[in-house]
Amino acid sequence: MTEQLVPEHHELKTYYPSSEAVQRARISGMDAYRKLVAEAEGDFEGFWARLAREHLAWNKPFTQTLDASGAPFYKWFADGKLNVSYNCLDRHVEAGKGGKTAIVFEADDGTVTRVSYGELLERTAKFANALKSLGVKKGDRVVIYMPMSVEGVTAMQACARIGATHSVVFGGFSAQSLRDRIQDAGAVLVITADEQRRGGKALPLKAIVDEALGLGGCDTVRNVVVYRRTGGDVAFHAPRDLWLHELVAGQSATCAPEWVEAEHPLFLLYTSGSTGKPKGVQHSTAGYLLWAQLTMLWTFDIQPDDLFWCTADIGWVTGHTYIAYGPLACGATEVVFEGVPTFPDAGRFWKMIQDHKVNVFYTAPTAIRSLIKAAETNAAVHPRNYKLDSLRILGTVGEPINPAAWEWYYEHIGGGRCPIVDTWWQTETGGHMLTPLPGATPMVPGSCTLPLPGIFAEVVDEAGHDLPWGTGGILVIKKPWPAMIRTIYGDPGRFKKSYYPEELHGYYLAGDGAIRDPHTGYFTITGRIDDVLNVSGHRMGTMEIESALVSHPIVAEAAVVGRPDDLTGEAVCAFVVLKRPVPTGEEALQIAQELRNHVGKEIGAIAKPRDIRFGDNLPKTRSGKIMRRLLRTLAKGEAITQDTSTLENPAILEQLARTH
Ligand code: WT7
Repeated sequence: MTEQLVPEHHELKTYYPSSEAVQRARISGMDAYRKLVAEAEGDFEGFWARLAREHLAWNKPFTQTLDASGAPFYKWFADGKLNVSYNCLDRHVEAGKGGKTAIVFEADDGTVTRVSYGELLERTAKFANALKSLGVKKGDRVVIYMPMSVEGVTAMQACARIGATHSVVFGGFSAQSLRDRIQDAGAVLVITADEQRRGGKALPLKAIVDEALGLGGCDTVRNVVVYRRTGGDVAFHAPRDLWLHELVAGQSATCAPEWVEAEHPLFLLYTSGSTGKPKGVQHSTAGYLLWAQLTMLWTFDIQPDDLFWCTADIGWVTGHTYIAYGPLACGATEVVFEGVPTFPDAGRFWKMIQDHKVNVFYTAPTAIRSLIKAAETNAAVHPRNYKLDSLRILGTVGEPINPAAWEWYYEHIGGGRCPIVDTWWQTETGGHMLTPLPGATPMVPGSCTLPLPGIFAEVVDEAGHDLPWGTGGILVIKKPWPAMIRTIYGDPGRFKKSYYPEELHGYYLAGDGAIRDPHTGYFTITGRIDDVLNVSGHRMGTMEIESALVSHPIVAEAAVVGRPDDLTGEAVCAFVVLKRPVPTGEEALQIAQELRNHVGKEIGAIAKPRDIRFGDNLPKTRSGKIMRRLLRTLAKGEAITQDTSTLENPAILEQLARTH
């Protein structure tokens, strides 16, 4: 799919933001954009210092903007002190906006609750005091394994308030994955819920935490705090386990924020790389928050009366930056949604936009594609049945959006009025990097267009030399930026190797391929250049899935590749060698199902291979290296046209080409 984007690019129409969008935008018109870009080019540090002073509330002002002495371990605003939760809550309450709605929470069953800034501050203070009562201190790590909820956001804000570093684990990850993250972070506390409600069903959370802790290796965990969401039956282990409602009941509603250094780690978030186990991406306090807030103002042009809705989960970086922190930092009102887009039917998103009068809507291409399909098969959930005229700006994130889906989104959701911001960024970048600006940038479907002011993106070759526009290469960021990843928790060597390889002389290596349009210089992302897959906007390492497969006793060897998929972007395709003869028919189906479930148990349902093919061996070179490019061709169901002369066992290709 990503391969198609490039040739399609030139035939595509350009869409211009309406004069209304341009007029009301903070960055109004391309000249305003270019002016900011020029400011950052002219005085890089001055640019960032100005923004950090204008947009953040400091307890102790910083005097030094960028400390590059330990590059690539950059420090930003290092001698300043501040608190994220103060910036997200107290400063709005102090400005008289305590009564303003911060969160409009819609539960899975449609129940709506509103929480004001004043209330959210109180709930955060009580939660923070509760954490303190359990001995949680500045610098401790807290794992959060929570459903989409006000409590989930409050848990994150409470950690920030006392200077504890949180690590949110997506509720779809298995006990094993949760254990690995708890262990790697050395967490002292886990915050969870009894169960989560999604699509009319109750799914376990606390039981998975129990299982994770039961796997061993989590001796650092002293307590488990449990938010009662469904009231479902859960095991309780006294004195380790505590109910959140009992814990906060006696707490004071005020809690002085812990003023932390600008570089203090706000959170860790585990993400997949091409090799080894998931890495704990460490983010800072000031630089991260600055970008979370600024990108809300620039990319989403958020205005005081806007209702913003990002459909991500707090378990991913999008839910951190554009649910837990960015919208609150700028004092906006946002929707937090517990459920899924297809329950009670696939019109749920459109109904919610209509009911709440959402102005800015941010979702993933996968969701759009599946809702297009639903609308095409069931006229009742077609967006034309809903009043969507409150919408002003649309956004997408997580994977390339194919032009057909872009155009549908533009016409049917945006009514041909709303600019679409196709935001390219990563867990590591903290916030948007390449994106159109809604009141400035002419849009080309499938292109994330241009870098934000202050971001120096380029397409280079493997030696780090700029490539001419029109030539595909690797995407790099040439200068540091405040919200960048600081390190991989516990593994600074891996941080350096993964993101600042020597041959790129100081450029940040994003891990994506890109090409710039020969005329406009617009960027189009062509997909990962490493062994990382993107399935429905979720990032997965092929090696992780391979390790999960070979941990099953009947598997001798496995190789995992992605194949293009119309709905999910990519689909996981596994080639497996068993410790027994190649199965056929019913037996093959059964073993494949067993292996899928095994991967689900090891990693989580999102990593389950779509296709599993069995063979006596894998295609290897004489030196024993698996030839993945051949597997990728086979996975697509295409004939091998590549050179196979270096292949040790060419006969294997024929066997693997068969689906079963
Ligand atoms: C990878 C990062 C960004 C938050 C959610 C995913 C891909 C992301 C786009 C986009 C094309 C995109 C890249 C990137 N990606 N946004 N607009 N167009 N590709 O964060 O899990 O860290 O994944 O997602 O391949 O490297 P993540």
